[in-house]
Amino acid sequence: MAQWRAGGDTIALVPTMGALHAGHIALVAAALALADRAVVSIFVNPTQFAPHEDLARYPRDEAGDLAKLAGAGAHLVWAPPVAEIYPEGFATRLEVGGAALPLEGAFRPHHFGGVATVVCKLLMSAMPDMALFGEKDFQQLAVIRQMARDLVLPVSIRSVPTVREHDGLALSSRNAYLTEDERYIAPMLYKAISDVARGRDPRDAASALLAAGFAKVDYIEVRDAETLAPFVPGSGRPGRVLAAAWLGKTRLIDNVAC
Ligand code: PAF
Repeated sequence: MAQWRAGGDTIALVPTMGALHAGHIALVAAALALADRAVVSIFVNPTQFAPHEDLARYPRDEAGDLAKLAGAGAHLVWAPPVAEIYPEGFATRLEVGGAALPLEGAFRPHHFGGVATVVCKLLMSAMPDMALFGEKDFQQLAVIRQMARDLVLPVSIRSVPTVREHDGLALSSRNAYLTEDERYIAPMLYKAISDVARGRDPRDAASALLAAGFAKVDYIEVRDAETLAPFVPGSGRPGRVLAAAWLGKTRLIDNVAC
């Protein structure tokens, strides 16, 4: 990478946790369109999982990932071992507020501190000109933008729209957990948030999800798209509908603009 920089090439980093799908490949394509070199990191970050969450069963497919990235034209894959990111004696963790507090922050209080810590370390290690993140994890994107701004990180944070299946289901590595029946029901989440974006009461949309077979709706809310504070109708600010709901043992999240 030093040689690329010395030669004047710009570098884009796509941080991932592997188990790559077409959504990640869209991030690589955007990176290649925006920069001379696309670097992809693959690191399943233990500090963003609470002890009861799915770290142990998180899908991993290093050989498949490398083949997909070669096909996508990525210039470099960086897959550090846990000890490289968190060596013996590592004792620093970012504390995140603001956009990190509501929604996912309320249900997974541990999560965004771990995300911010690892993303900061990945960015400071690779020192790319830009880093790309998917809108699928919309709150994560807001938290990372906030962190980059607050800590004056010299990296431009770019976003790429969510890639969806033909029936609307947002691509996610966790879709691999769904049974055949659950996979059939899963696109209802996109329908529910799209309905709210068109004006449906979020409580009615939540009831529709439960009636369709979702086990629990953690939240379905309209928020300010930048701060994630409650949306104020008529404010002229961009809004976002965000939801998280359980289908069997799988927790799905999704969001749309409104
Ligand atoms: O979105 C992800 O895959 C992860 O949260 C990230 C940004 C790579 C940090 O571990």
